[in-house]
Amino acid sequence: MDFDSVKGKVAIITGASSGIGKAIAMCYAKAGIKVVCANRNSQKGEETVNTIKSAGGDAVFFQADVSKAENVKELVDFAVHTYGRLDGMVNNAGIGLGGTPLHEYSLDEYDNIMSLNLKSVFTAMKYASQAILKSKSEGGFIINVSSIAGLMPQSGQSLYTSTKFGVIGMTKSASLEYAPYNITVNAICPGYTVTPIFGDAPDAAMNFFCSACPTGRMGQPEECAYLALFLASDMARYISGAAIPVDGALSAGARNVIQWKHPEILD
Ligand SMILES: NC(=O)c1ccc[n+]([C@@H]2O[C@H](COP(=O)([O-])OP(=O)(O)OC[C@H]3O[C@@H](n4cnc5c(N)ncnc54)[C@H](O)[C@@H]3O)[C@@H](O)[C@H]2O)c1
Repeated sequence: MDFDSVKGKVAIITGASSGIGKAIAMCYAKAGIKVVCANRNSQKGEETVNTIKSAGGDAVFFQADVSKAENVKELVDFAVHTYGRLDGMVNNAGIGLGGTPLHEYSLDEYDNIMSLNLKSVFTAMKYASQAILKSKSEGGFIINVSSIAGLMPQSGQSLYTSTKFGVIGMTKSASLEYAPYNITVNAICPGYTVTPIFGDAPDAAMNFFCSACPTGRMGQPEECAYLALFLASDMARYISGAAIPVDGALSAGARNVIQWKHPEILD
């Protein structure tokens, strides 16, 4: 068994124009997966596809706002129409929203983040699972990008945390339903990862994220992509219903005071 098992599979990746989604798209295409890159922003989406094609990969772009159910259905139909089948769906598109106590969030903010971070995962799983079943895929997979916020609630993040807990719950339920039909369903839970999601966050916030990481650094998007590739491969057929952190031990527990008895071992 090796990564060759992914060659020729067809997968959709949402939010493929930047950050973690782009890293997954590039990694999949390099390994021989035919990639349908979905994004709201067509210019950046086309750029990702052109980069993949110029490196010899097979990819197409579909413009979709995945918070709209009809766009998600059209996206899945487009993938099947283009490549004749569907094997995998990576639900990565999402937004951050945070740093605010719960009572300061507006009802509109609630609706917006729920429809993108959670409802889109439901609609994509709803339509993609049917397409994967109809394709009689022997290596079907669904990967939902949650967050360490789905494992470990954080202050100022009541809405984001709710969506990411929801993604993990949906992942686990669906994994039970599709296990008999050879479709794995897993969640990837990134820790603080260097992507445009942080926008123009102040230096103090970025410094906080770095210092919060036990590794002393933030993650790189490719570090999530390598796990996504493994989960797409036939080496991972017995892994389903899992929520796997890629966070340099950030969600493993709380740090405490520690004093080495023999620090000279590092000399
Ligand atoms: N970067 C982190 O530290 C981190 C940590 C934990 C979880 N995550 C999760 O990882 C996923 C990817 O985030 P990222 O950090 O790569 O951020 P990013 O901003 O670089 O990427 C998000 C992508 O989603 C797309 N998108 C946004 N709204 C969309 C919509 N309505 N329809 C279609 N596409 C849309 C954006 O265009 C972009 O391509 C998100 O679900 C995020 O919650 C990120």
